[in-house]
Amino acid sequence: MSKIAVYPGSFDPVTNGHVDIIRRTSRLFDRVIVAVSNNAAKNHTFSVNERIQMLVHSTPRLGNVSIDSFSGLLVDYLHSKKAQVLIRGLRVVSDMDYEFQMASINRQLYPKMETVFLMPDERYTYLSSSIIKEVARLGAQIKSFLPPPACRMLYSRLKQRNRKEES
Ligand code: PNS
Repeated sequence: MSKIAVYPGSFDPVTNGHVDIIRRTSRLFDRVIVAVSNNAAKNHTFSVNERIQMLVHSTPRLGNVSIDSFSGLLVDYLHSKKAQVLIRGLRVVSDMDYEFQMASINRQLYPKMETVFLMPDERYTYLSSSIIKEVARLGAQIKSFLPPPACRMLYSRLKQRNRKEES
């Protein structure tokens, strides 16, 4: 039976840290589904379709990786895809509280699944989508933190917003 792993997240935007986790996962499992969360209650910078496009263009050479979106409970999505492994990146100790809580709830809801935590390359330990958005908004160079398609889309979104604010 092929081992299918789901790597869920907001990816708003996708960072080099996310791509690093996708690469590592693709080496460990037969199939990897990167699942973009479609949560209308969250105020995302990019729409679900934009985040999917960003991921598609940022992970072009990994044959066993596909990109999808999901709404509702993550465990229901895993079940629908016959996936029993949930991947989460773990960067620093402060990630643990939230991640362990999520892993524990998910396992109680779907006992057959396992959460597997992967550590990204040390270069990405302190990298997060929200920090990158903040520093980009304040004019910092973000090229080394995001894949080029995500970088272009973020600059263009910030420009759009600036124009709106000026008019
Ligand atoms: O990249 P993020 O924002 O840390 O991803 C969080 C995400 C989307 C994986 C999490 O919020 C999630 O699983 N949402 C779906 C709703 C759900 O199943 N909640 C119960 C588990 S906490």
